[in-house]
Amino acid sequence: MDKLHVISLLLLISASVTTSQPVTDPIAFLRCLDRQPADTASPNSAVAFIPTNSTFTAVLRRRIPNLRFDKPTTPKPISVVAAATWTHIQAALGCARELSLQVRIRSGGHDFEGLSYISTVPFFVLDMFSFKSVDVNLTERTASVDSGATIGELYYRIAQKSNVLGFPAGLSSTLGVGGHFSGGGYGNMMRKYGLSVDNVVGSGIVDSNGNIFTDRVSMGEDRFWAIRGGGAASFGVVLGYKIQLVPVPAKVTVFKVRKTTREGAVDLIMKWQSFAHSTDRNLFVRLTLTLVNGTKPGEKMVLATFTGMYLGGSDKLLSLMNRGFPELKLKKTDCTEMRWIDSVLYWADYPIGTPSSVLLNATVDKKLFMKRKSDYVKRPISRAGLGLILKKLVEVEKVEMNWNPYGGRMGEIPSSRTPFPHRAGNLFNIEYLIDWSEAGENVERKYLALANEMYRFMTPYVSSNPREAYLNYRDLDIGSSISSTYQEGKIYGVKYFKNNFERLVDVKTTIDAENFWKNEQSIPVRR
Ligand SMILES: Cc1cc2nc3c(=O)[nH]c(=O)nc-3n(C[C@H](O)[C@H](O)[C@H](O)COP(=O)(O)OP(=O)(O)OC[C@H]3O[C@@H](n4cnc5c(N)ncnc54)[C@H](O)[C@@H]3O)c2cc1C
Ligand SMILES: *[C@@H]1O[C@H](CO)[C@@H](O)[C@H](O)[C@H]1NC(C)=O
Ligand SMILES: *[C@@H]1O[C@H](CO)[C@@H](O)[C@H](O)[C@H]1NC(C)=O
Ligand SMILES: *[C@@H]1O[C@H](CO)[C@@H](O)[C@H](O)[C@H]1NC(C)=O
Ligand SMILES: *[C@@H]1O[C@H](CO)[C@@H](O)[C@H](O)[C@H]1NC(C)=O
Repeated sequence: MDKLHVISLLLLISASVTTSQPVTDPIAFLRCLDRQPADTASPNSAVAFIPTNSTFTAVLRRRIPNLRFDKPTTPKPISVVAAATWTHIQAALGCARELSLQVRIRSGGHDFEGLSYISTVPFFVLDMFSFKSVDVNLTERTASVDSGATIGELYYRIAQKSNVLGFPAGLSSTLGVGGHFSGGGYGNMMRKYGLSVDNVVGSGIVDSNGNIFTDRVSMGEDRFWAIRGGGAASFGVVLGYKIQLVPVPAKVTVFKVRKTTREGAVDLIMKWQSFAHSTDRNLFVRLTLTLVNGTKPGEKMVLATFTGMYLGGSDKLLSLMNRGFPELKLKKTDCTEMRWIDSVLYWADYPIGTPSSVLLNATVDKKLFMKRKSDYVKRPISRAGLGLILKKLVEVEKVEMNWNPYGGRMGEIPSSRTPFPHRAGNLFNIEYLIDWSEAGENVERKYLALANEMYRFMTPYVSSNPREAYLNYRDLDIGSSISSTYQEGKIYGVKYFKNNFERLVDVKTTIDAENFWKNEQSIPVRR
C-alpha cells in the first residue's frame, strides 16, 4: 500500500468514527441546521430551541402530560425543533444524519412511556406542534388533518361545518393526530365504524433522506399499510392524514349508571360481559371499575360505572336496553340527548354546557404521574373469577380499569387489513390505569409494582400466546429493544401486532434497512 492510500484509508476511518460519534453541542446543531437548504423567509435555526433559549423548557414541557417523564432526571434533548415548514423537517433530518443524533417525533406527546420526547442516547425532538391545519371537505365527506392537530381540534372543525358528520377516534381531546392514528385510535364509535385507521384514506410522509411523499400512491401501499397502526415512528415523519368522515345523527344519547358491589354490581358486570360486545353497534357501553369508601371506616369497595354512547335518540336506546340489559334499569332521567360534538365533551369529562371551543385548547389541564397497561379478553370471565378480580382491585387499591367492548364493525375487519390485529374474537379490551400526584421515586416504585401485581393477577382471564396488547397503551414492561435485533423486537412485536409483525418487519427492511427510525419499541430490521 503506498502512502497516499494509507492516508486516505486513515481519513476514511477517522471520518466514519467522527460521524458515528454523536455531536451533542447545541450550537453545532444550530450551525448544522443553517448549512442545510432553507427557505429564505424562515431560517432553519430560528425554529430550533436549545437549552440556553429562555423558552426551551416551556417548549419542551408544553406537550409532556405525564409527570413521570417531567423530572430533572428525565433525559433532555439537545434541541426541540418546532418545525413550521417541510424544509425545517428536512433540515432537521439532515442534521440527525450528519451529527449522528437520534430523532424523536412528537405530535401530541401523549405516549404513555414518553417515547416521543425521551431517549437514552443523544437526541433532539422534532415537534409537529405547528402543523395543525384541518380542512373539511363536505362534498367528499373527507378531512385533511395535520399530525400536530389534536383530535379535539379535528372534532371541533368537523362540527363547525356539519352536525351530522363525525370521526371515530379517542376520548381525550388533547391526543395528537400524529401518534394516535399511527397506533390505531379507538373511541366510543368503534363498534359502528372501527378505529381511526379504518377510516384513513390517505397520508403524507417524509423519509429519512428527506424525501416527501404526499399521497398514498407515491408512498406505496406497504408504507401506507404500516403507518395505520404499526407505529409511524418506525417508518418516517407523518405530515398528516386524509380521513373519511362518518355519519352521526343530529342527536346522540349518553348516560352514566353507577353501582357498587353492595348494590349488585357483580350481576351487572356478568350481564355486561355477554351484552356489550353483541348488542346493536350504535351502542357502546364502557365499564369502569374504581374504588369507593364502604360503610365501615377504612373499608373500600368496587364501583362499577357504565358509561353509554348511543348513536340515536333516548327512546330507541331505552327500548334496546330494556330488551337486552334490563338489569341495569336504565331510566329516561339517566339519559341526555345532545349533539355529537357535545358528547365529545361529555366523554372527555367536561361539565354539560361547556362551549365546544375548549376543544381548541391543547393544554393538558391536570398533569399527573401515569402508567398504563392493556389486555384482551376472549372468553367471558366466570362469576368466581370476577369475584377474585374485584377483591384484588380492593387489595391493590390504586389501580383502576376500563373495559371497552369490541364486536360490531371491529369483528368484521380482517385482522391483516391494518397492522392493528385485535379484531374478531375479542369480547373487550382492558385498560389498566394508575395515576398519582405525589412526587418521589419510592412512591413511583410502589405504584408501578401495584400495576404489575394486578396485571399478573389477570393472567388466567386474558389472552395468552401471545398476551396481546394495544400499541397506543404503550408499555415497556412487555418488552423493549436495546440493540434493535429482530429477536428483541419480536417479543413486544407479536403482542402488539400478532401475525402482522412479520409484514411490518418486511416493510421496515425494505424502506429503512439502515434502521434510522428506532426507539425502545420500534419495528426491527430483518438481517
Ligand atoms: C389521557 C390519555 C387518554 C387517551 N385516550 C385514548 C383513547 O381514548 N383511545 C386511544 O386509542 N388511545 C388513547 N390514548 C393513547 C393515545 O392514543 C396514544 O398515547 C397516542 O400515541 C398519542 O398520540 P400523540 O400524538 O399525542 O403522542 P406522541 O407522544 O406525540 O406520539 C406517540 C408515538 O407516535 C410517534 N409519532 C408522533 N407523531 C408522529 C408523526 N407525525 N410521525 C411519525 N411518528 C409520530 C411518536 O414518536 C411516538 O412514538 C390516550 C392517552 C392519554 C395520555
Ligand atoms: C435560540 O438561541 C439561538 C442563539 O443562541 C438562536 O440562534 C435561536 O434562533 C434561538 N431559538 C429560538 C427558537 O428563538
Ligand atoms: C372537495 O372535493 C371536491 C371533489 O373532489 C372538489 O371538487 C372540491 O374542490 C373540494 N372542495 C374543497 C373546498 O377543497
Ligand atoms: C374515604 O375515606 C378516606 C379515609 O379512609 C377519606 O380520607 C376520604 O376522604 C373518603 N373519600 C370519600 C369520597 O368520602
Ligand atoms: C387552556 O387550558 C388551560 C388549562 O385548563 C388554561 O390554563 C388556559 O387558560 C386555557 N387557555 C385558553 C386560551 O383558554
